[in-house]
Amino acid sequence: MKKDLLSIHDLSREEIELILERSSDLKRKRKEGVSYQPLKGKCLGMIFEKSSTRTRVSFEVGIYQLGGYALFLSHRDIQLGRGETIADTAQVLSRYIDGIMIRTYRQSDVEELAAVADIPVINGLTDLLHPCQVLADLFTVQERFGSFAGLKVAYVGDGNNMANSWLYAAAKLGLAISIGCPPGYEPDDGVLLEAREDARGSGARIVVTHDPVEAVTDAQVIITDVWASMGQEEEHEKRLRDFAGYQVNTVLAGHADPSYLFMHCLPAHRGEEVAAEVIDGPHSIVVDEAENRLHTQKAVMELLMAAS
Ligand code: CP
Ligand code: NVA
Repeated sequence: MKKDLLSIHDLSREEIELILERSSDLKRKRKEGVSYQPLKGKCLGMIFEKSSTRTRVSFEVGIYQLGGYALFLSHRDIQLGRGETIADTAQVLSRYIDGIMIRTYRQSDVEELAAVADIPVINGLTDLLHPCQVLADLFTVQERFGSFAGLKVAYVGDGNNMANSWLYAAAKLGLAISIGCPPGYEPDDGVLLEAREDARGSGARIVVTHDPVEAVTDAQVIITDVWASMGQEEEHEKRLRDFAGYQVNTVLAGHADPSYLFMHCLPAHRGEEVAAEVIDGPHSIVVDEAENRLHTQKAVMELLMAAS
């Protein structure tokens, strides 16, 4: 395993499976009330340049449950927000703490932080990727279906950080994934190229289509995400127009496998990317998915920080 978790693309299939196995064990321990503290006395610094509910709370509670503690470092309060370099921040934090989780805009900033820091760096979301969320999503899918064999996942909506990370994951694990997005909102070209390369080895099937019906047809899992991500608030009105016809509602979901499951990383905008009838209906597993952030991130912290 590498020092850092920056992208699902950096993980092998075996490493993804190990994270999911550890997640399952940590979830069981938590449900049984078994105390397990491999990170006793260790500290995770959490740098947030964007808002968060799930990521902040699940990392903070997660490291506490593993015996350590977290420092919340808002960009409004630390010198990084006033122009101190990433390299200086990385070197100094490496002398104080045992790991860094960062949520920011540019993937290259997270990569620079990790390259300079001596301690593990975890990507808590960038404009390009959201690896922690997709690990939780994979764990949730595995819990429900037992394995990934033969599954078709449909992602409908913006080709954003969630779509990109799901492409990497599907390509590593050999899943069929169909992305249904409007013209101009396709996933990142570089991600698609790398995912298609991985797919050649794993047998994954990757489809990008502008037809949402084609994307969801016979899918066992339907995923969507907001049409305007953090930092794109000014494009909201334009995006509402451009994404018309891409809402996950019961009509669209009617083309999926009848026992399909609906997933969304949250926060959701009911009436935009998803209809309330779907996200609040019997096929939705979004709260289990959110819970699993806790267990999968504890697994990641244990694997990266226990030995460091
Ligand atoms: N899904 C997710 O990352 O949620 P937050 O933005 O609340 O952390
Ligand atoms: N795509 C969304 C995910 C939020 C968890 C965003 O980047 O805002």
